Amino acid sequence: MKTIIEPFRIKSVEPIRMTTREEREACIKEAHYNLFTLRSDDVLIDLLTDSGTSSMSARQWSALMQGDESYAGSPSFYRFKKAVDNLMPFKYLIPTHQGRAAESILFTVVSNDSHSIPNNTHFDTTRANVEAQGARAVDLVIAEGRDPELDHPFKGNMDIAALQKFIEDTGTDKIPLCMLTVTNNSGGGQPVSMENIRQTSEVCKQHGIPLFIDACRFAENAWFIKQREAGYAEVGIEDIVREMFSYADGCTMSAKKDGLANIGGWLAMNNEDWAVDCRNRLILTEGFSTYGGLTGRDLDAIAIGLEEVVQEDYLHYRIASTQYVARHIAEAGVPIMQPAGGHAVYIDARRFLPHISPLEYPGQSLSVELYKHGGIRGCEIGTAMFGLQPDGQEKPAQMDLVRLAIPRRMYTQSQMDYVIEVVLEVFENRDQLRGMKFVRQPRALRHFTGRFDYID
Ligand SMILES: Cc1ncc(COP(=O)(O)O)c(C=O)c1O
Repeated sequence: MKTIIEPFRIKSVEPIRMTTREEREACIKEAHYNLFTLRSDDVLIDLLTDSGTSSMSARQWSALMQGDESYAGSPSFYRFKKAVDNLMPFKYLIPTHQGRAAESILFTVVSNDSHSIPNNTHFDTTRANVEAQGARAVDLVIAEGRDPELDHPFKGNMDIAALQKFIEDTGTDKIPLCMLTVTNNSGGGQPVSMENIRQTSEVCKQHGIPLFIDACRFAENAWFIKQREAGYAEVGIEDIVREMFSYADGCTMSAKKDGLANIGGWLAMNNEDWAVDCRNRLILTEGFSTYGGLTGRDLDAIAIGLEEVVQEDYLHYRIASTQYVARHIAEAGVPIMQPAGGHAVYIDARRFLPHISPLEYPGQSLSVELYKHGGIRGCEIGTAMFGLQPDGQEKPAQMDLVRLAIPRRMYTQSQMDYVIEVVLEVFENRDQLRGMKFVRQPRALRHFTGRFDYID
């Protein structure tokens, strides 16, 4: 059939509070034109993030009741471990409350200020945790991955020649590990091919450098491999996932993405010495090694989520719904990052609003208008987020994007049709949008709490 339906029925509903444009104009003004400052019940369709926003299944909700809250050795931990081991069988598994906690523990244990950590593209929390140790976070994604208009099936791939050169120039003693992020969130949710994972692993092995996968969207990546890479069309998703991780020595994970859970994460590895140190660090910062800052019921929800996220009906619908939004707005001329990523559609605000200069935050202006016009909350990823330099100067970010991140199993197709309609109406009236300025900004991470206004 042509129509790809949501492979679930809705059993429990959460009403959306309908608002008028006038009400939303008042809400966003009160929030100083910062989407992060809005109250979420003033939002109609919340596409701020796909992290921790998944709808849980009836099986997950019932698994919560099985949660065992024993401090040590809970059966919930063993159910969680069985589900993780089925897909990513590393020797040591360390649960954490979310992905950044896994990163913090890992980099505290393995890195210092003489080190450099390569990645296709570091996600912000990964970069921040590397830099918190005084180490250097280096991005080596292929050149195609940095061109928003170019179509390529695996724009998240590591540049293998650049990695080889980077290792030779830096020295293996200065690189405690190499990371590979699947899919590549900061590069537009673009996948990494199996061939590229294998080649990255080979280069790392030649130099004795462990490879860790940032696994947040491992199932979406596996789906792209099945669809786009020769030789995988007939291979089951679980087998693709197992092969992906067979090339790695460990992983970090946020279960708030492809764990289909609202909280959780883990760190896994084969190196025993590192695992011992990481567990000790975990006990100091997160909790005992069989719960790692989570409740037993969270571990049970993740265990079921991992079974559900690799189901092909789910992945087919999931990726189709992202591509559906991308296709419809692109066909009407809206400039977007091509091809659509797994979890989000990225609108190129700089090309959408060519009359607004990057230093007047076209992405922020567009995000505010999408909210005012249709109650949609997206996220500016551009000069408002990255433009402030450590010396206090402003410079345009590499791109000015608005990310519409799609929560898993949350919205229906008619809600996505509504999103498309809102984007297209704003596009028609784009000439009327105005640039913005900060009227108050903290020195760090200003996009979260800063205040904006329109330029007169
Ligand atoms: C690729 C990637 N790595 C790490 C993280 C951090 O995970 P968490 O938000 O659970 O700390 C995220 C979160 O968005 C991510 O997208």
